[in-house]
Amino acid sequence: MKKAIYPGSFDPVTEGHMDVIRRACGFFDKLYVAVMVNVDKHTLFTCEERVDMLRKVTAEFGNVEVVHHDGLLADFAESLGVETIVKGIRNMSDFDIEYQMALINSRLNRKLDTIFFPSKSEYLFLSSTAVRSVAGTGGDITGFVPEAIKQTVLDKIAGIRIREER
Ligand code: PNS
Repeated sequence: MKKAIYPGSFDPVTEGHMDVIRRACGFFDKLYVAVMVNVDKHTLFTCEERVDMLRKVTAEFGNVEVVHHDGLLADFAESLGVETIVKGIRNMSDFDIEYQMALINSRLNRKLDTIFFPSKSEYLFLSSTAVRSVAGTGGDITGFVPEAIKQTVLDKIAGIRIREER
């Protein structure tokens, strides 16, 4: 069985992530979409919220399983019997970061390899940061995130703004 893991912060999942999931699904019998910890980022959504949103928007894919782990990706992949990491790349700065991560992961677990999916042109501008920024300042995030989680994202941000104004 060909298995792969697509790790990320997914804070929140965007249409760019969904495009990678859709395309990777076709290459593998099983795709784990893994909510992991990025030590350089403070997330807006809790791990449970990010997992719930991902489960909702990937329910239509029979070969996707959403998981989470707060340790090393290299160890987690080993425990799942996975030898392929999937990542999306939008530009050269993504490539620099992702290439370095691929090297580190294969150093930590010699069996691991990384496959990059180049972003479709319509998602080049899109990031979770952009979603949080646009939604946080009252902008329209239609087409930025899957429709099924749009209101969840807006409600979360509205809740935070109300708390901040108090
Ligand atoms: O969506 P992100 O924030 O770019 O994803 C980065 C992520 C979470 C995949 C990366 O930080 C990661 O793999 N975290 C798990 C801890 C780990 O294995 N670190 C070493 C890899 S360089």
